[in-house]
Amino acid sequence: MNHKALDKNNQNEVTELFTSVFTSSEGEEEGKLIGNLSLELSSNIDNEEIVCFGAYENGSLIGSIFFTRLRFNESILVYMLAPVAVSTNHQGKGVGQALISYGLNALKERSVAVAVTYGDPSFYSKVGFQALSANIIQAPLDLSMPEGWLGQSLTGEPIQAINGCPTCIEGFNDPAYW
Ligand SMILES: CC(C)(COP(=O)(O)OP(=O)(O)OC[C@H]1O[C@@H](n2cnc3c(N)ncnc32)[C@H](O)[C@@H]1OP(=O)(O)O)[C@@H](O)C(=O)NCCC(=O)NCCS
Repeated sequence: MNHKALDKNNQNEVTELFTSVFTSSEGEEEGKLIGNLSLELSSNIDNEEIVCFGAYENGSLIGSIFFTRLRFNESILVYMLAPVAVSTNHQGKGVGQALISYGLNALKERSVAVAVTYGDPSFYSKVGFQALSANIIQAPLDLSMPEGWLGQSLTGEPIQAINGCPTCIEGFNDPAYW
């Protein structure tokens, strides 16, 4: 397996992967929702606001992950991990955790201070995420499951509290995702 940063040229394979994985795991409606999100994200990869990585096996994309910037009043670099998918027949073999670790390391190399995500704590705790209080970092929109708001420092120092509500990229500005 090898990992690499993806760009707009990977749009079709990325969209196909997310659509098929989320259709299999969550049903057709969620497959469409996340498929459309991944199309919008992948067609706007700029390696600043939107960063994307892929895991390949024998030349096929078997996993992909997006990180998008959250902007605060201060200039601190915070990225949100979402969404991530591993092809259905490669799940449960460590591909997802390896891809997340690869992405987090790439962010560390860019001096990103904090990674956040919104998902299942039992999975994301395996790759270093912990519950994140809104007193430390707020989510950009109201959360239906505040216990799923998670973060990790990428500097080795504890996460510093950041004032104010961040803005997310346009694609996530929809209560359906939160
Ligand atoms: C979630 C996902 C990315 C994990 O990738 P993966 O390659 O299957 O996971 P890994 O093999 O690296 O890690 C497996 C571990 O994660 C756990 N895990 C996998 N999927 C999980 C899920 N949806 N919820 C909770 N835990 C999960 C497994 O129990 C396993 O734990 P174990 O090692 O203690 O047995 C992948 O299963 C996937 O694409 N699922 C469907 C889409 C999805 O739910 N994406 C995440 C939300 S954006």
